[in-house]
Amino acid sequence: MFHPGIYGGRVEHLKGKTAVVTGAASGLGFSFAKRFAEAGMNVVLSDIEAPPLEQARASVAEIASGHGTETVAHVSDVADEQAVADLASESIARFGQVNVLCNNAGVAGSGLTEGPGTINAKEWKWVLDVNLWGVIHGHQAFLPHLLEHGDGHIVNTASMAGHLPGHNAYSASKWAVVAITEGLFNQLKTTGSTVGVSCLCPGWVDTKIADSSRNRPEWAAPDALNEPSPESEARYDFIRDLLASGKNPDDVAELVHDAITNDKFWIFTDMSMVATLSGRFESVLENKNPEWGNPLLGGGD
Ligand SMILES: NC(=O)c1ccc[n+]([C@@H]2O[C@H](COP(=O)([O-])OP(=O)(O)OC[C@H]3O[C@@H](n4cnc5c(N)ncnc54)[C@H](O)[C@@H]3O)[C@@H](O)[C@H]2O)c1
Repeated sequence: MFHPGIYGGRVEHLKGKTAVVTGAASGLGFSFAKRFAEAGMNVVLSDIEAPPLEQARASVAEIASGHGTETVAHVSDVADEQAVADLASESIARFGQVNVLCNNAGVAGSGLTEGPGTINAKEWKWVLDVNLWGVIHGHQAFLPHLLEHGDGHIVNTASMAGHLPGHNAYSASKWAVVAITEGLFNQLKTTGSTVGVSCLCPGWVDTKIADSSRNRPEWAAPDALNEPSPESEARYDFIRDLLASGKNPDDVAELVHDAITNDKFWIFTDMSMVATLSGRFESVLENKNPEWGNPLLGGGD
């Protein structure tokens, strides 16, 4: 629906406005930050990793300098409610208004790589804290501000893993992100809000997500149940190859930009993966047992 705020499908509508991106030091978040700077926005880059965050900010600042806009680096842990509240209040204090929020920070944990019963409770908690609570904290901290001025858009980074069953913390977190993002879309539309929301569900993208244990907190260190084994290392290598053959994150940033300016809800990066969902929907509709296999990993149909 067109309205006189951000939407209209023209980059000019983002010009001079402000974006906040979490997980902006690397991968997808870094590409979003660059794309927003190219669109003439102020950009607040936030991440838990301070040195790469400052490097990312410096590269984005080079783009922003051509547009007379500003970039800010803000170190924060999205799993920490107060830290995300501070990110919101400091961004608003600095720029007056935040218009685009990308709840993007995420970790894979043992992700798609472990067998049944091999994920300990700390792993579940760490991954859900970052991938799900990070998004919830973003909503809690920024939504009142966005609703008040009405010229805003939230992009939540879920995953194709949020559409495919998986007995692991990553899948659980991403299903929940898909559900609350679609639920928020529904609430915004039924209340007539001019704030938009999009759900990004990437397939494989060439980033450092397979190495997200670099950000694993001490308290969630692996124990005997999920400590790295030659088998799990081999599975990680397989995932790294899939990621390396995946999309360039800059191309995904283009899709995100287009979704914001055109008020598009779903952002898919790989329609062949989306097509695999029909088998699952059919088995649900026909009340049949699930097909065996995980299409994300090349199995199943
Ligand atoms: N790469 C893919 O194939 C793929 C596919 C589907 C979904 N995703 C999702 O994309 C998002 C971005 O990941 P990416 O692929 O760019 O990986 P990445 O590891 O390159 O980037 C993730 C960023 O999040 C940051 N981060 C981790 N924990 C954090 C925390 N607690 N607080 C703040 N920042 C934190 C990391 O430091 C890193 O800079 C994630 O939500 C991920 O689940 C990625």
